[in-house]
Amino acid sequence: MENENPIKQVMLTGDRPTGPLHIGHYVGSLRMRVELQNEGKFDEMFIMIADTQALTDNAENPQKVRDNVIQVALDYLAAGIDPNKVTIFVQSRVPELAEFSCYFANLVTLARLERNPTLKTEMGMRGFGSSLPVGFLNYPISQAADILMFGTTIVPAGEDQMPMVEQAQEIAHKFNSVYGNVFIEPKIMVPEKALCRRLPGIDGKAKMSKSLGNAIYLSDDEKTVTKQVMSMFTDPTHLQVSDPGHTEGNPVFMYLEAFATDEHFAKYLPEYKNLEELKAHYQRGGLGDVTVKRFLAKVLNDILEPMRQRRRELENDIPAVYRILEEGSKRAAEVASYYGFRAKRAMGINYFEDKKLIEKQQKAFKRKHEEADKLAAYLAQSKK
Ligand code: TRP
Repeated sequence: MENENPIKQVMLTGDRPTGPLHIGHYVGSLRMRVELQNEGKFDEMFIMIADTQALTDNAENPQKVRDNVIQVALDYLAAGIDPNKVTIFVQSRVPELAEFSCYFANLVTLARLERNPTLKTEMGMRGFGSSLPVGFLNYPISQAADILMFGTTIVPAGEDQMPMVEQAQEIAHKFNSVYGNVFIEPKIMVPEKALCRRLPGIDGKAKMSKSLGNAIYLSDDEKTVTKQVMSMFTDPTHLQVSDPGHTEGNPVFMYLEAFATDEHFAKYLPEYKNLEELKAHYQRGGLGDVTVKRFLAKVLNDILEPMRQRRRELENDIPAVYRILEEGSKRAAEVASYYGFRAKRAMGINYFEDKKLIEKQQKAFKRKHEEADKLAAYLAQSKK
């Protein structure tokens, strides 16, 4: 039987505007978003600049968040996100997201939040101790609102977002069973290549991040990218060119795995057909790090150059970029208010819109008055 009411396929994802986006964001999520956009399989696609979430640990530094909203918007557009196909919006401009963070918080225990592995890691990194902001602890709940208030079916994101999507599924499930069916349980979509889910920093540390100073940004110029690649950590046991080297856990090879195609080999390093051949030579010995790094720098610059050019054009008309965000935020608010309306009706907190509720309340009070009047009349009668 044909499904009479097929669920709309909705994609939503986002980033905190705490710095420009780097190549880890690109292979972890951004590249996949552009592909999904171009495949056109979704009924609606949203990309959110999560300024509210960025403020949960930057409350005293709003300027940083403010400055990076435009940076992240430029990165999206430069990477190929088309605002005619994807609604790009700013989290704080959709009031329902804050509103439902509040209602959803009633459905989640403190113990459950404290079990979230991503939150745990982040709390450790920031060393909050007993000065943990309640807003930061609450951000998985707020993120559930980001996801649920748009009827999201798929969240394309890095592996670290898995616990957040699970939290959103649980909240949708709990809400639906307590108040009635309103929210859709979303699924995460991570990149197929395991490597792309967690690209290390250029120093080989687990995660690329601005605070560790180990990132290559989408907006970096050619020279900077080359310099960063040439300074990359490689196999510490590969001291001489003739020494056999390790490719496993070697960040230079991990980056090549994530970025280099056979076309790149044909264009920049035709002595090798593909990465397998290059790896084999490195493992045998006789291949120097400098050769491999030079190749990686060329590959990255090849991918980043068209983005740099688009970014440059976009930077010449910044008001137009803000207009894209403003229009997107209006569209996002429309969709969120539809889900908000239905959820508040399910919760019974739609006091003024519900004519039946008003009638019912009126009847109850009338009945109360009638009974009181009857009793008074009876008492007056019996006194006589
Ligand atoms: N937590 C994400 C990050 O760290 C940003 C984000 C906020 C997000 N809301 C979201 C991602 C909703 C996916 C879906 O960058």
